[in-house]
Amino acid sequence: MEDKRLSITDERTGSTYKIPVADGALRSMDLRQIKTGPEDFGLMGYDPAFMNTASCRSSVTFIDGEKGILRYRGYPIEDLAEQCTFLEVAYLILTGELPTAQELEVWVGQVRHHTMLHETTKKFLEGFRYDAHPMGMFISTVAALSTIYPEARNVLDPASRRLQIQRLVGKVPTIAAYTYRHSLGYPYVYPDNELSYPENFMNMLWRMVEPRYQANPTLARALDILFILHADHEQNCSTNTMRAVGSSQADPYVSTAAAAAALSGPLHGGANEAVLKMLDEIGSKDRVPAYIERVKAGHVKLMGFGHRVYKNYDPRARIIKWTADRVFEVTGRSPKLEIALELERVALEDDYFIKRKLYPNVDFYSGIIYQAMGFKPEMFTVLFAIPRTVGWLAQWQEMLEDPEQKIARPRQIYTGHGKREFVPMEKRVAKVASAAR
Ligand code: ACO
Repeated sequence: MEDKRLSITDERTGSTYKIPVADGALRSMDLRQIKTGPEDFGLMGYDPAFMNTASCRSSVTFIDGEKGILRYRGYPIEDLAEQCTFLEVAYLILTGELPTAQELEVWVGQVRHHTMLHETTKKFLEGFRYDAHPMGMFISTVAALSTIYPEARNVLDPASRRLQIQRLVGKVPTIAAYTYRHSLGYPYVYPDNELSYPENFMNMLWRMVEPRYQANPTLARALDILFILHADHEQNCSTNTMRAVGSSQADPYVSTAAAAAALSGPLHGGANEAVLKMLDEIGSKDRVPAYIERVKAGHVKLMGFGHRVYKNYDPRARIIKWTADRVFEVTGRSPKLEIALELERVALEDDYFIKRKLYPNVDFYSGIIYQAMGFKPEMFTVLFAIPRTVGWLAQWQEMLEDPEQKIARPRQIYTGHGKREFVPMEKRVAKVASAAR
Protein backbone atom coordinates (compact mmCIF):
# COMPACT_ATOMS: atom_id res chain seq x y z
CA MET A 1 0.00 0.00 0.00
CA GLU A 2 1.37 3.43 -0.95
CA ASP A 3 1.91 5.65 2.12
CA LYS A 4 2.47 8.89 0.10
CA ARG A 5 5.56 9.99 -1.68
CA LEU A 6 9.02 11.09 -0.76
CA SER A 7 10.27 14.22 -2.45
CA ILE A 8 13.99 14.12 -3.26
CA THR A 9 15.88 17.09 -4.63
CA ASP A 10 19.19 16.22 -6.27
CA GLU A 11 21.56 19.07 -5.39
CA ARG A 12 23.89 17.94 -8.18
CA THR A 13 21.30 18.82 -10.84
CA GLY A 14 18.55 20.75 -9.03
CA SER A 15 15.97 18.16 -10.20
CA THR A 16 13.21 16.99 -7.88
CA TYR A 17 11.78 13.46 -7.90
CA LYS A 18 8.68 12.04 -6.25
CA ILE A 19 9.48 8.55 -4.99
CA PRO A 20 6.59 6.32 -3.82
CA VAL A 21 6.84 5.01 -0.27
CA ALA A 22 4.95 1.84 0.65
CA ASP A 23 5.03 -0.07 3.95
CA GLY A 24 7.69 2.32 5.23
CA ALA A 25 10.08 1.56 2.39
CA LEU A 26 11.06 2.99 -0.96
CA ARG A 27 12.05 0.77 -3.83
CA SER A 28 15.74 1.10 -4.55
CA MET A 29 14.97 0.68 -8.27
CA ASP A 30 13.00 3.96 -8.11
CA LEU A 31 16.30 5.70 -7.32
CA ARG A 32 17.76 4.62 -10.65
CA GLN A 33 15.93 7.46 -12.47
CA ILE A 34 18.04 9.96 -10.47
CA LYS A 35 20.89 10.72 -12.85
CA THR A 36 23.34 13.53 -13.45
CA GLY A 37 23.22 12.97 -17.22
CA PRO A 38 22.49 10.36 -19.90
CA GLU A 39 25.81 8.55 -19.24
CA ASP A 40 25.09 8.21 -15.52
CA PHE A 41 23.99 4.68 -14.48
CA GLY A 42 21.58 6.16 -11.93
CA LEU A 43 21.53 6.31 -8.14
CA MET A 44 21.95 3.08 -6.14
CA GLY A 45 21.61 2.32 -2.44
CA TYR A 46 24.87 1.30 -0.70
CA ASP A 47 24.16 -0.99 2.24
CA PRO A 48 26.94 -3.39 3.22
CA ALA A 49 25.63 -6.12 5.56
CA PHE A 50 22.02 -5.15 4.71
CA MET A 51 21.75 -2.84 7.70
CA ASN A 52 18.69 -1.06 6.28
CA THR A 53 17.53 -3.02 3.26
CA ALA A 54 14.43 -5.24 3.12
CA SER A 55 15.18 -8.01 0.63
CA CYS A 56 11.72 -9.54 0.55
CA ARG A 57 8.15 -9.50 1.77
CA SER A 58 7.56 -12.28 4.24
CA SER A 59 4.61 -13.48 6.30
CA VAL A 60 6.51 -16.12 8.27
CA THR A 61 8.09 -14.42 11.29
CA PHE A 62 7.58 -11.06 12.96
CA ILE A 63 10.22 -9.52 15.21
CA ASP A 64 10.03 -6.22 17.06
CA GLY A 65 13.62 -5.89 18.19
CA GLU A 66 13.02 -2.78 20.30
CA LYS A 67 10.24 -4.42 22.30
CA GLY A 68 11.69 -7.95 22.32
CA ILE A 69 8.74 -9.55 20.47
CA LEU A 70 8.93 -12.70 18.33
CA ARG A 71 5.95 -14.29 16.59
CA TYR A 72 5.64 -17.13 14.06
CA ARG A 73 2.74 -16.57 11.66
CA GLY A 74 1.29 -14.12 14.21
CA TYR A 75 1.48 -16.39 17.26
CA PRO A 76 3.69 -15.24 20.18
CA ILE A 77 6.71 -17.48 20.71
CA GLU A 78 5.82 -17.79 24.41
CA ASP A 79 2.43 -19.40 23.59
CA LEU A 80 3.92 -21.76 21.04
CA ALA A 81 6.76 -22.83 23.34
CA GLU A 82 4.35 -23.48 26.16
CA GLN A 83 1.54 -25.24 24.31
CA CYS A 84 2.83 -26.86 21.12
CA THR A 85 5.14 -29.60 19.97
CA PHE A 86 7.93 -28.77 17.56
CA LEU A 87 6.25 -30.60 14.65
CA GLU A 88 3.04 -28.63 15.30
CA VAL A 89 5.04 -25.40 15.07
CA ALA A 90 6.86 -26.70 11.99
CA TYR A 91 3.47 -27.23 10.31
CA LEU A 92 2.47 -23.69 11.29
CA ILE A 93 5.67 -22.18 9.92
CA LEU A 94 5.50 -24.14 6.68
CA THR A 95 1.78 -23.76 5.93
CA GLY A 96 0.80 -20.57 7.75
CA GLU A 97 -1.80 -22.21 10.03
CA LEU A 98 -1.81 -24.33 13.18
CA PRO A 99 -2.83 -27.89 12.31
CA THR A 100 -6.05 -29.55 13.42
CA ALA A 101 -5.56 -32.87 15.25
CA GLN A 102 -6.12 -34.75 12.00
CA GLU A 103 -3.79 -32.51 9.97
CA LEU A 104 -1.12 -32.94 12.62
CA GLU A 105 -1.46 -36.71 12.53
CA VAL A 106 -1.00 -36.74 8.74
CA TRP A 107 1.98 -34.36 8.94
CA VAL A 108 3.71 -36.32 11.71
CA GLY A 109 3.17 -39.49 9.65
CA GLN A 110 4.71 -37.84 6.58
CA VAL A 111 7.79 -36.72 8.52
CA ARG A 112 8.18 -40.17 10.13
CA HIS A 113 7.97 -41.80 6.74
CA HIS A 114 11.17 -39.98 5.76
CA THR A 115 13.42 -40.41 8.79
CA MET A 116 15.60 -43.17 7.29
CA LEU A 117 18.78 -42.40 5.39
CA HIS A 118 19.81 -44.30 2.29
CA GLU A 119 22.56 -46.80 3.18
CA THR A 120 24.96 -45.07 0.80
CA THR A 121 24.56 -41.90 2.89
CA LYS A 122 25.69 -43.89 5.92
CA LYS A 123 28.76 -45.03 3.99
CA PHE A 124 29.37 -41.46 2.88
CA LEU A 125 29.45 -40.41 6.55
CA GLU A 126 31.95 -43.16 7.33
CA GLY A 127 34.41 -41.42 5.00
CA PHE A 128 34.88 -38.55 7.43
CA ARG A 129 37.84 -38.58 9.81
CA TYR A 130 37.11 -39.72 13.37
CA ASP A 131 37.60 -36.15 14.65
CA ALA A 132 35.65 -34.32 11.90
CA HIS A 133 33.56 -31.44 13.24
CA PRO A 134 29.89 -32.53 13.35
CA MET A 135 28.77 -29.33 11.64
CA GLY A 136 31.08 -29.97 8.67
CA MET A 137 29.68 -33.51 8.41
CA PHE A 138 26.11 -32.22 8.71
CA ILE A 139 26.55 -29.62 5.97
CA SER A 140 28.22 -32.06 3.58
CA THR A 141 25.71 -34.87 4.18
CA VAL A 142 22.69 -32.61 3.66
CA ALA A 143 24.28 -31.47 0.37
CA ALA A 144 24.92 -35.12 -0.58
CA LEU A 145 21.16 -35.87 -0.36
CA SER A 146 20.90 -33.89 -3.58
CA THR A 147 22.60 -36.80 -5.38
CA ILE A 148 19.97 -39.26 -4.12
CA TYR A 149 16.90 -37.20 -5.01
CA PRO A 150 17.64 -35.67 -8.43
CA GLU A 151 13.93 -34.89 -8.93
CA ALA A 152 14.34 -32.25 -6.21
CA ARG A 153 15.66 -29.97 -8.93
CA ASN A 154 12.04 -29.44 -10.03
CA VAL A 155 11.82 -26.56 -7.58
CA LEU A 156 8.93 -24.95 -9.46
CA ASP A 157 6.74 -28.02 -8.91
CA PRO A 158 4.80 -27.53 -5.64
CA ALA A 159 4.24 -31.30 -5.17
CA SER A 160 7.96 -32.02 -5.51
CA ARG A 161 8.73 -29.19 -3.08
CA ARG A 162 6.33 -30.64 -0.50
CA LEU A 163 8.01 -34.04 -0.77
CA GLN A 164 11.53 -32.63 -0.37
CA ILE A 165 10.37 -30.60 2.65
CA GLN A 166 9.01 -33.75 4.31
CA ARG A 167 12.25 -35.56 3.52
CA LEU A 168 14.45 -32.82 4.92
CA VAL A 169 12.44 -32.33 8.12
CA GLY A 170 12.44 -36.11 8.58
CA LYS A 171 16.12 -36.69 7.84
CA VAL A 172 17.99 -33.82 9.51
CA PRO A 173 17.74 -35.36 13.02
CA THR A 174 19.01 -38.67 11.61
CA ILE A 175 21.97 -36.96 9.93
CA ALA A 176 22.69 -34.97 13.08
CA ALA A 177 22.60 -38.10 15.26
CA TYR A 178 24.84 -40.00 12.84
CA THR A 179 27.46 -37.23 12.90
CA TYR A 180 27.48 -37.54 16.69
CA ARG A 181 27.78 -41.33 16.69
CA HIS A 182 30.50 -41.10 14.05
CA SER A 183 32.58 -38.79 16.22
CA LEU A 184 32.31 -41.31 19.10
CA GLY A 185 32.99 -44.32 16.88
CA TYR A 186 29.64 -45.87 17.86
CA PRO A 187 27.36 -47.79 15.47
CA TYR A 188 24.50 -45.78 14.01
CA VAL A 189 21.04 -46.29 15.50
CA TYR A 190 18.16 -46.44 13.03
CA PRO A 191 15.13 -44.20 13.62
CA ASP A 192 12.28 -45.52 15.75
CA ASN A 193 9.06 -44.17 14.32
CA GLU A 194 7.00 -45.00 17.38
CA LEU A 195 8.79 -42.24 19.24
CA SER A 196 8.10 -38.52 19.12
CA TYR A 197 10.42 -36.27 17.09
CA PRO A 198 12.71 -35.32 20.02
CA GLU A 199 12.56 -38.80 21.60
CA ASN A 200 13.51 -40.45 18.34
CA PHE A 201 16.42 -38.04 18.02
CA MET A 202 17.58 -38.83 21.56
CA ASN A 203 17.19 -42.54 20.77
CA MET A 204 19.46 -42.25 17.71
CA LEU A 205 22.00 -40.29 19.77
CA TRP A 206 22.18 -42.24 22.99
CA ARG A 207 20.79 -45.75 22.66
CA MET A 208 23.46 -48.34 23.41
CA VAL A 209 22.62 -52.00 24.04
CA GLU A 210 19.23 -51.62 25.72
CA PRO A 211 16.36 -53.05 23.60
CA ARG A 212 14.30 -49.83 23.89
CA TYR A 213 15.63 -46.36 24.66
CA GLN A 214 13.61 -44.47 27.28
CA ALA A 215 14.03 -40.72 26.92
CA ASN A 216 13.62 -38.67 30.09
CA PRO A 217 10.31 -36.84 29.41
CA THR A 218 11.54 -33.55 30.93
CA LEU A 219 14.65 -33.55 28.76
CA ALA A 220 12.67 -34.57 25.65
CA ARG A 221 10.23 -31.71 26.25
CA ALA A 222 13.12 -29.28 26.84
CA LEU A 223 14.68 -30.32 23.53
CA ASP A 224 11.33 -29.86 21.78
CA ILE A 225 11.01 -26.35 23.28
CA LEU A 226 14.56 -25.50 22.16
CA PHE A 227 13.63 -26.70 18.66
CA ILE A 228 10.55 -24.45 18.69
CA LEU A 229 12.63 -21.44 19.75
CA HIS A 230 15.15 -22.00 16.96
CA ALA A 231 12.70 -22.79 14.15
CA ASP A 232 12.77 -19.43 12.34
CA HIS A 233 14.06 -15.93 12.80
CA GLU A 234 13.18 -13.96 9.67
CA GLN A 235 15.99 -12.67 7.44
CA ASN A 236 19.07 -13.70 9.43
CA CYS A 237 22.39 -14.58 7.80
CA SER A 238 21.59 -18.26 7.10
CA THR A 239 18.02 -17.60 5.92
CA ASN A 240 19.30 -14.91 3.60
CA THR A 241 21.77 -17.51 2.27
CA MET A 242 18.94 -20.03 1.76
CA ARG A 243 16.98 -17.47 -0.23
CA ALA A 244 20.03 -16.31 -2.22
CA VAL A 245 21.14 -19.83 -3.19
CA GLY A 246 17.54 -20.96 -3.75
CA SER A 247 16.94 -17.96 -6.00
CA SER A 248 19.17 -19.57 -8.65
CA GLN A 249 16.70 -22.51 -8.52
CA ALA A 250 19.31 -24.76 -6.94
CA ASP A 251 17.68 -27.76 -5.26
CA PRO A 252 16.60 -27.57 -1.59
CA TYR A 253 19.32 -29.95 -0.36
CA VAL A 254 22.25 -27.90 -1.57
CA SER A 255 20.43 -24.69 -0.62
CA THR A 256 19.88 -26.01 2.93
CA ALA A 257 23.52 -27.08 3.10
CA ALA A 258 24.55 -23.54 2.13
CA ALA A 259 22.27 -22.07 4.78
CA ALA A 260 23.75 -24.46 7.37
CA ALA A 261 27.23 -23.34 6.33
CA ALA A 262 26.23 -19.74 7.03
CA LEU A 263 24.81 -20.83 10.38
CA SER A 264 28.09 -22.46 11.39
CA GLY A 265 29.99 -19.18 11.87
CA PRO A 266 30.68 -17.97 15.43
CA LEU A 267 28.83 -14.70 14.81
CA HIS A 268 25.66 -16.66 13.98
CA GLY A 269 24.68 -20.18 15.11
CA GLY A 270 28.24 -21.07 16.02
CA ALA A 271 27.96 -18.62 18.94
CA ASN A 272 26.48 -21.26 21.27
CA GLU A 273 29.67 -23.31 21.00
CA ALA A 274 31.75 -20.14 21.44
CA VAL A 275 29.80 -19.23 24.61
CA LEU A 276 30.79 -22.53 26.24
CA LYS A 277 34.43 -21.98 25.30
CA MET A 278 34.21 -18.49 26.78
CA LEU A 279 32.69 -19.79 30.04
CA ASP A 280 35.47 -22.40 30.24
CA GLU A 281 38.06 -19.69 29.69
CA ILE A 282 36.56 -17.49 32.44
CA GLY A 283 36.50 -20.52 34.74
CA SER A 284 34.93 -18.98 37.87
CA LYS A 285 32.52 -16.25 38.97
CA ASP A 286 35.22 -14.07 40.53
CA ARG A 287 36.97 -13.74 37.15
CA VAL A 288 33.88 -12.25 35.47
CA PRO A 289 34.74 -8.55 36.13
CA ALA A 290 38.20 -8.97 34.58
CA TYR A 291 36.66 -10.62 31.51
CA ILE A 292 34.12 -7.82 31.15
CA GLU A 293 37.04 -5.33 31.19
CA ARG A 294 38.66 -7.24 28.32
CA VAL A 295 35.37 -7.07 26.39
CA LYS A 296 35.11 -3.31 26.98
CA ALA A 297 38.71 -2.83 25.88
CA GLY A 298 37.78 -4.54 22.60
CA HIS A 299 40.08 -7.54 23.10
CA VAL A 300 37.26 -10.09 23.02
CA LYS A 301 33.50 -10.20 22.38
CA LEU A 302 30.99 -11.26 24.96
CA MET A 303 29.71 -14.27 23.01
CA GLY A 304 25.95 -14.84 23.21
CA PHE A 305 25.40 -11.11 23.67
CA GLY A 306 24.13 -8.59 21.13
CA HIS A 307 21.93 -8.96 18.10
CA ARG A 308 21.42 -7.11 14.84
CA VAL A 309 17.67 -6.84 15.43
CA TYR A 310 17.05 -7.19 19.18
CA LYS A 311 17.89 -4.07 21.13
CA ASN A 312 16.12 -5.56 24.13
CA TYR A 313 16.15 -8.93 25.90
CA ASP A 314 15.86 -11.72 23.27
CA PRO A 315 12.49 -13.35 24.15
CA ARG A 316 13.98 -16.75 23.31
CA ALA A 317 16.71 -16.29 25.94
CA ARG A 318 14.01 -15.69 28.56
CA ILE A 319 12.23 -18.96 27.69
CA ILE A 320 15.54 -20.82 27.57
CA LYS A 321 16.41 -19.61 31.08
CA TRP A 322 13.05 -20.96 32.29
CA THR A 323 13.66 -24.27 30.45
CA ALA A 324 17.14 -24.50 31.98
CA ASP A 325 15.61 -24.62 35.47
CA ARG A 326 13.48 -27.66 34.47
CA VAL A 327 16.51 -29.39 32.91
CA PHE A 328 18.74 -28.77 35.92
CA GLU A 329 16.12 -30.39 38.18
CA VAL A 330 16.95 -33.60 36.29
CA THR A 331 20.65 -33.19 35.52
CA GLY A 332 21.81 -31.10 38.49
CA ARG A 333 22.83 -27.46 38.20
CA SER A 334 25.73 -26.71 35.86
CA PRO A 335 28.57 -24.71 37.49
CA LYS A 336 28.75 -22.78 34.20
CA LEU A 337 25.30 -21.36 34.89
CA GLU A 338 26.69 -19.42 37.87
CA ILE A 339 29.31 -17.81 35.63
CA ALA A 340 26.73 -17.03 32.93
CA LEU A 341 24.30 -15.48 35.42
CA GLU A 342 27.08 -13.36 36.88
CA LEU A 343 28.21 -12.29 33.38
CA GLU A 344 24.65 -11.26 32.56
CA ARG A 345 24.24 -9.40 35.86
CA VAL A 346 27.50 -7.46 35.51
CA ALA A 347 26.96 -6.72 31.82
CA LEU A 348 23.39 -5.49 32.22
CA GLU A 349 24.53 -2.99 34.87
CA ASP A 350 27.47 -1.73 32.84
CA ASP A 351 27.27 1.43 30.73
CA TYR A 352 29.16 -0.15 27.82
CA PHE A 353 26.37 -2.73 27.33
CA ILE A 354 23.51 -0.41 28.30
CA LYS A 355 24.55 2.25 25.76
CA ARG A 356 24.90 -0.27 22.97
CA LYS A 357 21.70 -2.10 23.95
CA LEU A 358 23.52 -5.42 24.25
CA TYR A 359 21.44 -8.18 25.87
CA PRO A 360 21.77 -11.98 26.03
CA ASN A 361 20.65 -13.64 22.80
CA VAL A 362 19.33 -17.16 22.17
CA ASP A 363 22.83 -18.64 22.26
CA PHE A 364 23.82 -17.37 25.69
CA TYR A 365 22.03 -20.06 27.72
CA SER A 366 21.24 -22.76 25.13
CA GLY A 367 24.75 -24.27 25.25
CA ILE A 368 24.63 -24.65 29.02
CA ILE A 369 21.41 -26.67 28.73
CA TYR A 370 22.75 -28.74 25.85
CA GLN A 371 25.88 -29.55 27.81
CA ALA A 372 23.86 -30.51 30.90
CA MET A 373 21.82 -32.84 28.66
CA GLY A 374 25.02 -34.58 27.56
CA PHE A 375 25.92 -32.92 24.25
CA LYS A 376 29.49 -31.96 23.36
CA PRO A 377 29.88 -28.26 22.42
CA GLU A 378 30.75 -29.27 18.83
CA MET A 379 27.16 -30.55 18.48
CA PHE A 380 25.47 -27.32 19.55
CA THR A 381 25.25 -25.70 16.13
CA VAL A 382 24.00 -28.96 14.63
CA LEU A 383 21.21 -28.86 17.24
CA PHE A 384 20.38 -25.37 16.01
CA ALA A 385 20.35 -26.49 12.35
CA ILE A 386 17.75 -29.25 12.88
CA PRO A 387 14.80 -26.95 13.69
CA ARG A 388 16.08 -24.03 11.61
CA THR A 389 15.77 -26.29 8.55
CA VAL A 390 12.00 -25.72 8.88
CA GLY A 391 12.41 -21.95 8.79
CA TRP A 392 14.83 -22.13 5.85
CA LEU A 393 12.38 -24.28 3.88
CA ALA A 394 9.39 -22.05 4.65
CA GLN A 395 11.35 -19.00 3.51
CA TRP A 396 12.66 -20.84 0.44
CA GLN A 397 9.12 -21.81 -0.54
CA GLU A 398 7.88 -18.26 0.03
CA MET A 399 10.70 -16.90 -2.13
CA LEU A 400 9.89 -19.29 -5.00
CA GLU A 401 6.20 -18.37 -4.88
CA ASP A 402 6.83 -14.62 -4.78
CA PRO A 403 6.38 -13.21 -8.31
CA GLU A 404 8.63 -10.25 -7.43
CA GLN A 405 11.65 -12.42 -6.61
CA LYS A 406 14.35 -13.17 -9.15
CA ILE A 407 17.88 -14.47 -8.92
CA ALA A 408 19.51 -12.57 -6.03
CA ARG A 409 22.26 -10.43 -7.41
CA PRO A 410 23.39 -7.28 -5.62
CA ARG A 411 25.20 -4.39 -7.24
CA GLN A 412 28.65 -3.20 -6.23
CA ILE A 413 30.60 0.02 -6.11
CA TYR A 414 33.71 -0.81 -8.08
CA THR A 415 36.90 0.37 -6.37
CA GLY A 416 39.51 -1.30 -8.60
CA HIS A 417 41.71 0.00 -11.42
CA GLY A 418 40.48 1.65 -14.57
CA LYS A 419 41.52 -0.04 -17.81
CA ARG A 420 45.20 -1.04 -17.73
CA GLU A 421 47.64 -1.99 -20.47
CA PHE A 422 48.39 -5.74 -20.39
CA VAL A 423 51.93 -6.50 -19.07
CA PRO A 424 53.71 -9.51 -20.67
CA MET A 425 55.32 -11.99 -18.23
CA GLU A 426 58.93 -10.91 -18.90
CA LYS A 427 58.13 -7.31 -17.98
CA ARG A 428 56.23 -8.01 -14.76
CA VAL A 429 57.62 -6.92 -11.39
CA ALA A 430 56.49 -8.71 -8.20
CA LYS A 431 54.02 -6.48 -6.36
CA VAL A 432 51.76 -8.85 -4.43
CA ALA A 433 52.78 -9.01 -0.78
CA SER A 434 51.78 -12.54 0.21
CA ALA A 435 48.59 -13.95 -1.28
CA ALA A 436 50.14 -15.67 -4.31
CA ARG A 437 53.40 -16.71 -2.65
N1 ACO B 1 30.46 -8.08 22.89
C1 ACO B 1 31.00 -6.84 22.99
N2 ACO B 1 30.64 -5.81 22.20
C2 ACO B 1 29.68 -6.02 21.29
C3 ACO B 1 29.06 -7.28 21.15
C4 ACO B 1 29.47 -8.33 22.00
N3 ACO B 1 28.92 -9.53 21.91
N4 ACO B 1 28.14 -7.22 20.15
C5 ACO B 1 28.20 -5.96 19.69
N5 ACO B 1 29.12 -5.24 20.37
C6 ACO B 1 29.44 -3.81 20.20
C7 ACO B 1 30.25 -3.60 18.94
O1 ACO B 1 31.63 -3.67 19.19
C8 ACO B 1 29.80 -2.22 18.56
O2 ACO B 1 30.44 -1.28 19.40
P1 ACO B 1 30.93 0.15 18.82
O3 ACO B 1 29.66 0.86 18.48
O4 ACO B 1 31.71 0.76 19.92
O5 ACO B 1 31.74 -0.16 17.60
C9 ACO B 1 28.32 -2.17 18.94
O6 ACO B 1 28.19 -3.13 20.00
C10 ACO B 1 27.38 -2.56 17.80
O7 ACO B 1 27.76 -3.85 17.34
P2 ACO B 1 27.80 -4.31 15.83
O8 ACO B 1 28.93 -5.28 15.65
O9 ACO B 1 27.75 -3.11 14.92
O10 ACO B 1 26.41 -5.05 15.74
P3 ACO B 1 25.96 -6.04 14.60
O11 ACO B 1 24.48 -5.88 14.50
O12 ACO B 1 26.74 -5.84 13.35
O13 ACO B 1 26.35 -7.48 15.17
C11 ACO B 1 26.26 -9.55 16.27
C12 ACO B 1 25.44 -8.35 15.75
C13 ACO B 1 27.09 -10.15 15.12
C14 ACO B 1 25.28 -10.61 16.76
C15 ACO B 1 27.17 -9.07 17.42
O14 ACO B 1 26.39 -8.54 18.49
C16 ACO B 1 28.08 -10.18 17.95
O15 ACO B 1 29.13 -10.43 17.35
N6 ACO B 1 27.68 -10.89 19.06
C17 ACO B 1 28.45 -11.99 19.58
C18 ACO B 1 28.20 -13.24 18.75
C19 ACO B 1 26.82 -13.81 18.99
O16 ACO B 1 26.39 -13.98 20.13
N7 ACO B 1 26.14 -14.17 17.88
C20 ACO B 1 24.83 -14.80 17.95
C21 ACO B 1 23.76 -13.88 17.47
S1 ACO B 1 22.19 -14.65 17.58
C22 ACO B 1 22.17 -15.74 16.32
O17 ACO B 1 22.75 -15.58 15.29
C23 ACO B 1 21.45 -16.95 16.49
